Amino acid sequence: MGKILDGKVTQSHILSQVKEVTQKLADSKGVKPGLAVIIVGEDPASQVYVSSKEKNAKECGFHSLKFTMPADASEAELLAQVEALNNDPAVHGILVQLPLPKHMDENKVIQTISADKDVDGFHLVNVGRLSTGDLDAAYVPCTPAGSMLLIEQALGKDLSGKHAVVVGRSNIVGKPMASLLLHANATVTVAHSRTKDLPALCATADIVVAAVGRPEMVKGDWIKKGATVIDVGINRIDAPERGEGKTRLVGDVEYATSAENAGAITPVPGGVGPMTIAMLMANTVIAAYRTAGLEAPIFTAE
Ligand code: GUN
Repeated sequence: MGKILDGKVTQSHILSQVKEVTQKLADSKGVKPGLAVIIVGEDPASQVYVSSKEKNAKECGFHSLKFTMPADASEAELLAQVEALNNDPAVHGILVQLPLPKHMDENKVIQTISADKDVDGFHLVNVGRLSTGDLDAAYVPCTPAGSMLLIEQALGKDLSGKHAVVVGRSNIVGKPMASLLLHANATVTVAHSRTKDLPALCATADIVVAAVGRPEMVKGDWIKKGATVIDVGINRIDAPERGEGKTRLVGDVEYATSAENAGAITPVPGGVGPMTIAMLMANTVIAAYRTAGLEAPIFTAE
C-alpha cells in the first residue's frame, strides 16, 4: 500500500505559515492582506466554496470581502465591480467564482482583473509568467500549486529523471500543472481524450496527475509500482449501497486498486481539494508582500 498524501494535514501546515507571514507583514508594514471574492448567482456548490474561502481568509487574519450579485446582473455591472476592486488599495487579491451565468464572457471578466491581483492565476499575463518560468512574478493557479506541494512531499523538490503524465489539458489544471512539473525538471507528457493507449502511457509514469473530471477513469493496473498518484478529480456519483438516493465523492482515479501499486497517493476527498484553498490564501499574502515591495514568502510542504 502506498503512502497516503493527506491534504488536510498539509493544508493546516500551509495555513499556519500563511498566518505567521500575515502577522509579520502587519507588524513590519501595518498591512493586512485583502481578499475580495465575487459570486454571481445562487449555484449551491459555488456558495459552499465561497463561504469556505471567506472563512479561511478571516482565520488567516485577512481583510475578507464578499460581493454577491444576482444571476441576472449584467456583465457591465460585474466588470465595474472588478474595476472598483482593481483600484482599491486595501484589496490585494480578487477572485471571481466560476462558472459565471451563460450571458457573461468568462474570459473577458478574468482578463479585466488586474494581473497583480489575480490570485487564481488565470490572467494571460500570469499564464505567460508561469509558462516562461518567471515564478517570482507569477500567480500560480491554486490547484496545480497545491498538487506540486503534495508531489514535493512524496519525491522532494527536484524531479530530474522522473516521467510525469498529466491526464487532462485544461487551462485551470492540466496546462499549468505541466508547466510546474517541467520547472521542477520532470519529463512531462500531457495526455487527453485523443491520446492513444492511455493505460500503456500511464504505466511508464513515475508521477500520474489525473485531472479529467471522469469518475475513476484511471485504473489501478495502469499505475507503475511505486509511482506517485495525484487525483485532482472531485466527482459525485450515485451510491445505492448507502441507501436510496445517496451519493458519494470519488476522484478521477480508481483509488483502492491504485493505492496497491502507488508509492504515494492522494485520497478523494481530503487530498488535493484542501490544498486548493490553502494556496489561495498563500497567493493572497504573496500579493500583499509584493505590493508592499517585499520579497514574497515561500511555502513548503514540510
Ligand atoms: N470554481 C471552481 N474552482 C474555482 C477556482 O479555482 N477559481 C474560481 N475562480 N472559480 C472556481
